Amino acid sequence: MAVPTTKSKGIFTAGVLANRPACADHFALLLRLAEFPPTQPGQFVNIRCGRVEPILKPTEFEWRPGSLPPPHQPETVGRQPLLRRPISLAGRRDLDDGVELEIIHRVVGVGTAWLAGLKAGEPVDILGPLGQGFRPVDRPLAAVVGGGSGIPPMLYLAEALAAAGKKVVAFAGARSGASLPLTIGAHDLPSQAGWPTLCTAEFAARGAATVITTDDGSLGFPGLVSQALQGWIERSSVAQGELAVYACGPNPMMQAVAGLCLPAGIPCQLSLERHMACGLGACQGCVCKVKDDSPQGWKYKLVCKDGPVFDVGEICW
Ligand SMILES: Cc1cc2nc3c(=O)[nH]c(=O)nc-3n(C[C@H](O)[C@H](O)[C@H](O)COP(=O)(O)OP(=O)(O)OC[C@H]3O[C@@H](n4cnc5c(N)ncnc54)[C@H](O)[C@@H]3O)c2cc1C
Ligand code: FES
Repeated sequence: MAVPTTKSKGIFTAGVLANRPACADHFALLLRLAEFPPTQPGQFVNIRCGRVEPILKPTEFEWRPGSLPPPHQPETVGRQPLLRRPISLAGRRDLDDGVELEIIHRVVGVGTAWLAGLKAGEPVDILGPLGQGFRPVDRPLAAVVGGGSGIPPMLYLAEALAAAGKKVVAFAGARSGASLPLTIGAHDLPSQAGWPTLCTAEFAARGAATVITTDDGSLGFPGLVSQALQGWIERSSVAQGELAVYACGPNPMMQAVAGLCLPAGIPCQLSLERHMACGLGACQGCVCKVKDDSPQGWKYKLVCKDGPVFDVGEICW
């Protein structure tokens, strides 16, 4: 087992073990660390998407009255993002001499493009683990539902739920088959009717059959992942007292999953996404509204610190 660290969170320098395209727009990054605090599925790390460099010692520079000081620290020169970028953990392996963390991200901008360019052996500065993860519910059957870049945390969750003795069925939705960060055709092909099959290597390795859905119908069930989940619940012989649902994805998908689970009384946890700055609860930049007993009926919580995972019943949409 890896040497545990006494910190519950902190800044760590990881080394890149591997970095490969997982599909047309996602990359799978495998990081190696000498130590890392315990983690739960649903937690995330805040990655500094720029070179790991020591903070420069203050140096003398000429500052003319009426002008701004000239930029000289690494984050104020060049195109390195100033703010860290939050990315979920897609997996973790504890080894005798360290820890491996898996991260799968979609390239959407300057930070994730920098991550995509990392080479084996290069250092990466990560802050974590952050946030509150999924809390396994006492139900024998688990549906893990991921949309787009919400799929990666579901891999880590599926592994943990299977290890806890739950039967896991995965639902993975993408705009098209080319944007799905999973390896298709492991043992079976995806079902166009929305039935779970052992069609993805990643979920099959975690003991879970998968329903693939695509918006353009290029792979698996043509339609939304929430529609496939609804169809499966209605058509299979799932006793609703046995099922719990865990989901991560874009807001409309989460709202649809909530609209399905809440009236049916199915326990459900949702991992929300917000733009984040500190990731630690300091900047107040990532709020979401949750229900409470106050006269106005709601209050703000912080997605980075109180979440990103919330019970379906507490979220105000
Ligand atoms: C808790 C959490 C976990 C996440 N986990 C993953 C993950 O596992 N894999 C993954 O691919 N992405 C994940 N994301 C989203 C990821 O943080 C953003 O895509 C990333 O910060 C974009 O950085 P960038 O510099 O590449 O893009 P930027 O140049 O900053 O922005 C490019 C575009 O992406 C949009 N964008 C930026 N940040 C977010 C955000 N937080 N949510 C939605 N849109 C955003 C911007 O509005 C803009 O349109 C997660 C976000 C959160 C809050
Ligand atoms: S990102 Fe700063 S408080 Fe949540």
